[in-house]
Amino acid sequence: MKRDFLAVTDFSKAEIYETFRIAKALKADVKAGKPHHYFANETMAMIFAKPSLRTRVSFETGMVQFGGHALYLGPSDISIGKREAVKDISRVISRYNNWIMARLFLHEHMIELAKYASVPVINGLTDYNHPCQIMADMLTIYEHRGQVEDQKVVFIGDGNNVCNSFLNFASVIPYHFVLAAPEGYDPDPETLAKAKAAGISEIEIVRDPIAAAKDADVLYTDVWTSMGQEVERRKRVNDFKGFQINNELLSYAKSDALVMHCLPAHYEEEITESVIDGPHSVVFDEAENRMHAQKAVMVMLAISNGADITI
Ligand code: CP
Ligand code: NVA
Repeated sequence: MKRDFLAVTDFSKAEIYETFRIAKALKADVKAGKPHHYFANETMAMIFAKPSLRTRVSFETGMVQFGGHALYLGPSDISIGKREAVKDISRVISRYNNWIMARLFLHEHMIELAKYASVPVINGLTDYNHPCQIMADMLTIYEHRGQVEDQKVVFIGDGNNVCNSFLNFASVIPYHFVLAAPEGYDPDPETLAKAKAAGISEIEIVRDPIAAAKDADVLYTDVWTSMGQEVERRKRVNDFKGFQINNELLSYAKSDALVMHCLPAHYEEEITESVIDGPHSVVFDEAENRMHAQKAVMVMLAISNGADITI
């Protein structure tokens, strides 16, 4: 069976730790200028139904570092589900390319894309989740702290796609995850129930950001208005008042707390510029790790799908 990476839960605990190990090795190669052409002459079709900086640039650059090439297909190129059926896009691309990476609105489309593709599909964000982001985020915590399992990660803001992936991670690897969100902005209920039922992580949903921030090892946030929710922006700005990572909120966290944001940031909304530019911020390590983590995910998928790669 071909393997894809559509959710963090597609990997076991051992596979996630192996992904981290490989990511660190690939990162060291890049820093040392040592080539690693594991996917020489291979190509990746990148389907974007939404805008991107990090996802596009990190995958495209990563493919070049692997000795391959990535093709950017923007929102107006394919019009997934409108111009052509998802399954046909999937079957056609599988005849040309070795990899598919997609950023879509509907998670159901991602699942359908993977179902009909004969090549591995990697999820670069849907309305439901953002697994590559969480692999990079947890890798960043792992690098800074030496482990993730004793960490209290406090997400301030919307129970959105990024939050759902934190919950998925919590159902595979134990840690302490707290979401501080206003009423009406909780994560996907099924994902929350599954993460709780896995019974390995401490998971809390609270309404008070200050109480949540107490003793946090990591303070995390994301935009209040995700891509596709622009019409709700005014209401959201109002509803999320007080759910901002600023120096005051940071003062409740541990004295050495890390501050993280998946980016793009909306300064002075969910986070202040002074915090992102301040000493606790590891936001740009996190952004860099997108590339290393995703490349490691690719190596893991390739090995699972029969490639002979030793790292
Ligand atoms: N964090 C993230 O996915 O960034 P982009 O939307 O720029 O890809
Ligand atoms: N929640 C955000 C993440 C962007 C990387 C969005 O979906 O727009």
